Amino acid sequence: MGMTDFEIAGRYTSVVGEILNELPVGSKVAWLGQKHPSVNQDKFLYDSIMSGVQTELEHHFYDLNNEEFETSHKWDVHEEWSISGYDLVLGLRVLYLCDSRNKLMSNLIRACNGNDKVIFDFMTGNPVLINGKETFVKKNNSQTILPFFPELYDAQFSVQPNHDDQVITLKHLKDYDIEVDDILTFRDGIKRRFYTLCEVTCDT
Ligand SMILES: C[S@@+](CC[C@H](N)C(=O)[O-])C[C@H]1O[C@@H](n2cnc3c(N)ncnc32)[C@H](O)[C@@H]1O
Repeated sequence: MGMTDFEIAGRYTSVVGEILNELPVGSKVAWLGQKHPSVNQDKFLYDSIMSGVQTELEHHFYDLNNEEFETSHKWDVHEEWSISGYDLVLGLRVLYLCDSRNKLMSNLIRACNGNDKVIFDFMTGNPVLINGKETFVKKNNSQTILPFFPELYDAQFSVQPNHDDQVITLKHLKDYDIEVDDILTFRDGIKRRFYTLCEVTCDT
Protein backbone atom coordinates (compact mmCIF):
# COMPACT_ATOMS: atom_id res chain seq x y z
CA MET A 1 0.00 0.00 0.00
CA GLY A 2 1.41 3.41 -0.97
CA MET A 3 1.62 6.53 1.15
CA THR A 4 -1.06 8.04 -1.05
CA ASP A 5 -3.56 5.48 0.29
CA PHE A 6 -3.11 6.83 3.81
CA GLU A 7 -3.47 10.39 2.63
CA ILE A 8 -6.58 9.61 0.57
CA ALA A 9 -8.11 7.71 3.49
CA GLY A 10 -7.37 10.68 5.75
CA ARG A 11 -9.25 12.97 3.38
CA TYR A 12 -12.16 10.72 2.39
CA THR A 13 -13.00 8.73 5.50
CA SER A 14 -15.08 11.16 7.51
CA VAL A 15 -16.63 12.93 4.48
CA VAL A 16 -17.80 9.72 2.80
CA GLY A 17 -18.69 8.16 6.16
CA GLU A 18 -20.96 11.11 6.88
CA ILE A 19 -22.70 10.73 3.50
CA LEU A 20 -23.33 7.05 4.26
CA ASN A 21 -24.49 7.78 7.82
CA GLU A 22 -27.03 10.27 6.50
CA LEU A 23 -28.76 7.64 4.33
CA PRO A 24 -31.98 6.15 5.69
CA VAL A 25 -31.61 2.73 7.32
CA GLY A 26 -31.79 -0.06 4.72
CA SER A 27 -30.64 2.12 1.80
CA LYS A 28 -28.88 0.34 -1.06
CA VAL A 29 -25.33 1.41 -1.86
CA ALA A 30 -23.31 0.37 -4.94
CA TRP A 31 -19.55 0.62 -4.55
CA LEU A 32 -17.98 0.77 -8.02
CA GLY A 33 -14.39 -0.38 -8.50
CA GLN A 34 -14.49 -2.12 -5.15
CA LYS A 35 -13.75 -5.78 -4.60
CA HIS A 36 -16.11 -7.60 -2.27
CA PRO A 37 -14.70 -7.16 1.26
CA SER A 38 -14.67 -10.96 1.80
CA VAL A 39 -11.87 -11.14 -0.80
CA ASN A 40 -9.70 -9.15 1.61
CA GLN A 41 -7.94 -7.13 -1.09
CA ASP A 42 -7.87 -3.40 -1.86
CA LYS A 43 -10.15 -2.66 1.07
CA PHE A 44 -8.03 -0.26 3.13
CA LEU A 45 -10.10 2.77 2.13
CA TYR A 46 -13.37 0.83 2.33
CA ASP A 47 -12.55 -0.42 5.85
CA SER A 48 -11.46 3.02 6.93
CA ILE A 49 -14.71 4.60 5.69
CA MET A 50 -16.91 1.84 7.09
CA SER A 51 -15.26 2.00 10.52
CA GLY A 52 -17.23 5.22 11.07
CA VAL A 53 -20.54 4.10 9.57
CA GLN A 54 -23.20 3.05 12.07
CA THR A 55 -26.22 3.11 9.75
CA GLU A 56 -27.46 -0.31 8.67
CA LEU A 57 -27.20 -0.30 4.86
CA GLU A 58 -27.24 -2.85 2.04
CA HIS A 59 -23.87 -2.73 0.29
CA HIS A 60 -23.17 -4.10 -3.20
CA PHE A 61 -19.73 -4.31 -4.77
CA TYR A 62 -18.90 -3.93 -8.46
CA ASP A 63 -15.42 -4.72 -9.72
CA LEU A 64 -13.74 -6.36 -12.69
CA ASN A 65 -12.08 -8.76 -10.29
CA ASN A 66 -15.23 -9.81 -8.43
CA GLU A 67 -16.94 -13.18 -8.61
CA GLU A 68 -20.72 -13.15 -9.05
CA PHE A 69 -22.52 -13.91 -5.80
CA GLU A 70 -25.21 -12.15 -3.73
CA THR A 71 -23.79 -8.66 -3.25
CA SER A 72 -20.66 -9.21 -5.36
CA HIS A 73 -20.88 -8.26 -9.02
CA LYS A 74 -18.50 -8.53 -11.93
CA TRP A 75 -18.38 -5.14 -13.67
CA ASP A 76 -16.13 -3.53 -16.25
CA VAL A 77 -15.81 0.27 -16.13
CA HIS A 78 -15.06 0.22 -19.90
CA GLU A 79 -18.42 -1.32 -20.84
CA GLU A 80 -21.91 0.19 -20.79
CA TRP A 81 -22.85 0.35 -17.12
CA SER A 82 -26.07 -1.28 -15.92
CA ILE A 83 -26.14 -0.01 -12.38
CA SER A 84 -29.62 1.02 -11.29
CA GLY A 85 -32.00 1.09 -8.35
CA TYR A 86 -29.48 2.29 -5.77
CA ASP A 87 -29.93 5.04 -3.22
CA LEU A 88 -26.24 5.81 -3.58
CA VAL A 89 -23.68 4.91 -6.25
CA LEU A 90 -20.17 5.49 -4.95
CA GLY A 91 -17.15 5.20 -7.23
CA LEU A 92 -13.84 5.97 -5.56
CA ARG A 93 -10.56 5.78 -7.47
CA VAL A 94 -12.00 3.92 -10.41
CA LEU A 95 -12.73 6.49 -13.15
CA TYR A 96 -9.01 6.98 -13.73
CA LEU A 97 -9.17 3.68 -15.65
CA CYS A 98 -11.54 5.09 -18.30
CA ASP A 99 -10.03 5.96 -21.66
CA SER A 100 -12.83 7.86 -23.37
CA ARG A 101 -14.52 11.05 -22.20
CA ASN A 102 -17.52 10.42 -24.46
CA LYS A 103 -18.07 6.87 -23.23
CA LEU A 104 -17.73 8.00 -19.62
CA MET A 105 -20.21 10.85 -20.16
CA SER A 106 -22.91 8.46 -21.38
CA ASN A 107 -22.20 6.09 -18.50
CA LEU A 108 -22.46 8.93 -15.97
CA ILE A 109 -25.81 9.93 -17.49
CA ARG A 110 -27.02 6.32 -17.23
CA ALA A 111 -25.86 6.19 -13.60
CA CYS A 112 -27.60 9.49 -12.74
CA ASN A 113 -30.83 8.47 -14.43
CA GLY A 114 -31.04 5.09 -12.75
CA ASN A 115 -30.06 5.94 -9.19
CA ASP A 116 -30.88 8.51 -6.48
CA LYS A 117 -27.43 9.87 -5.69
CA VAL A 118 -24.16 9.42 -7.58
CA ILE A 119 -20.74 10.26 -6.15
CA PHE A 120 -17.40 9.81 -7.89
CA ASP A 121 -13.92 11.15 -7.58
CA PHE A 122 -11.93 12.53 -10.50
CA MET A 123 -8.15 12.59 -10.45
CA THR A 124 -5.84 14.69 -12.61
CA GLY A 125 -2.77 13.26 -14.27
CA ASN A 126 0.71 13.82 -12.91
CA PRO A 127 2.11 17.35 -13.05
CA VAL A 128 5.21 18.04 -15.18
CA LEU A 129 6.82 21.38 -16.02
CA ILE A 130 6.22 22.41 -19.63
CA ASN A 131 7.46 25.87 -20.65
CA GLY A 132 7.67 26.77 -16.96
CA LYS A 133 4.04 25.88 -16.31
CA GLU A 134 2.79 22.99 -14.22
CA THR A 135 0.97 20.81 -16.71
CA PHE A 136 -1.07 17.66 -16.05
CA VAL A 137 -0.22 14.79 -18.37
CA LYS A 138 -0.66 11.05 -18.61
CA LYS A 139 2.80 9.59 -19.02
CA ASN A 140 3.95 6.87 -21.44
CA ASN A 141 1.26 7.87 -23.92
CA SER A 142 -1.42 6.52 -21.56
CA GLN A 143 -4.88 6.94 -23.08
CA THR A 144 -6.76 7.21 -19.77
CA ILE A 145 -8.88 10.28 -19.05
CA LEU A 146 -7.45 13.58 -17.86
CA PRO A 147 -9.99 15.35 -15.64
CA PHE A 148 -9.05 19.03 -15.42
CA PHE A 149 -11.19 21.35 -13.28
CA PRO A 150 -9.00 24.49 -12.89
CA GLU A 151 -11.99 26.39 -11.44
CA LEU A 152 -11.50 24.25 -8.33
CA TYR A 153 -7.70 24.49 -8.11
CA ASP A 154 -5.72 27.09 -6.21
CA ALA A 155 -3.22 28.15 -8.91
CA GLN A 156 -2.69 28.23 -12.69
CA PHE A 157 -2.18 24.89 -14.41
CA SER A 158 -2.28 23.45 -17.91
CA VAL A 159 -3.23 20.11 -19.33
CA GLN A 160 -1.69 18.25 -22.27
CA PRO A 161 -3.65 15.28 -23.61
CA ASN A 162 -2.49 12.34 -25.73
CA HIS A 163 -5.75 12.16 -27.70
CA ASP A 164 -8.92 14.16 -28.43
CA ASP A 165 -11.26 12.18 -26.19
CA GLN A 166 -9.11 12.37 -23.06
CA VAL A 167 -9.51 15.70 -21.23
CA ILE A 168 -12.64 16.27 -19.13
CA THR A 169 -13.42 19.84 -18.10
CA LEU A 170 -16.46 21.26 -16.34
CA LYS A 171 -17.44 22.70 -19.73
CA HIS A 172 -17.36 19.23 -21.34
CA LEU A 173 -19.60 17.97 -18.55
CA LYS A 174 -21.97 20.91 -18.97
CA ASP A 175 -22.21 20.23 -22.71
CA TYR A 176 -23.67 16.85 -21.75
CA ASP A 177 -25.95 18.49 -19.14
CA ILE A 178 -23.89 16.89 -16.39
CA GLU A 179 -23.07 18.88 -13.27
CA VAL A 180 -20.51 18.12 -10.64
CA ASP A 181 -21.11 19.49 -7.19
CA ASP A 182 -17.73 19.69 -5.47
CA ILE A 183 -17.68 17.90 -2.12
CA LEU A 184 -13.93 17.99 -1.62
CA THR A 185 -10.99 19.02 -3.81
CA PHE A 186 -7.42 18.59 -2.65
CA ARG A 187 -3.93 17.97 -3.95
CA ASP A 188 -2.06 14.99 -2.63
CA GLY A 189 1.34 15.67 -1.11
CA ILE A 190 3.19 12.85 -2.86
CA LYS A 191 2.22 12.61 -6.52
CA ARG A 192 0.80 16.15 -6.46
CA ARG A 193 -2.37 15.24 -8.29
CA PHE A 194 -5.68 16.97 -7.65
CA TYR A 195 -8.58 14.84 -6.48
CA THR A 196 -12.15 16.06 -6.75
CA LEU A 197 -14.81 14.13 -4.89
CA CYS A 198 -18.18 15.26 -6.15
CA GLU A 199 -21.84 14.52 -6.54
CA VAL A 200 -22.73 14.04 -10.19
CA THR A 201 -26.17 15.07 -11.41
CA CYS A 202 -27.65 15.41 -14.86
CA ASP A 203 -30.64 17.13 -16.41
CA THR A 204 -31.38 14.61 -19.16
C1 LIG B 1 -7.11 1.73 -7.16
S1 LIG B 1 -8.21 0.38 -6.83
C2 LIG B 1 -9.46 1.27 -5.95
C3 LIG B 1 -10.15 0.42 -4.95
C4 LIG B 1 -11.11 1.22 -4.05
N1 LIG B 1 -12.19 1.82 -4.79
C5 LIG B 1 -10.34 2.28 -3.29
O1 LIG B 1 -10.44 3.46 -3.64
O2 LIG B 1 -9.62 1.92 -2.36
C6 LIG B 1 -8.95 0.08 -8.42
C7 LIG B 1 -10.01 -1.02 -8.43
O3 LIG B 1 -10.52 -1.12 -9.76
C8 LIG B 1 -10.63 -2.48 -10.14
N2 LIG B 1 -10.54 -2.54 -11.60
C9 LIG B 1 -9.45 -2.62 -12.39
N3 LIG B 1 -9.81 -2.60 -13.70
C10 LIG B 1 -11.17 -2.50 -13.72
C11 LIG B 1 -12.13 -2.42 -14.76
N4 LIG B 1 -11.77 -2.45 -16.04
N5 LIG B 1 -13.43 -2.32 -14.42
C12 LIG B 1 -13.81 -2.29 -13.12
N6 LIG B 1 -12.96 -2.36 -12.08
C13 LIG B 1 -11.64 -2.46 -12.39
C14 LIG B 1 -9.51 -3.19 -9.39
O4 LIG B 1 -9.80 -4.57 -9.21
C15 LIG B 1 -9.48 -2.41 -8.06
O5 LIG B 1 -10.36 -2.98 -7.12
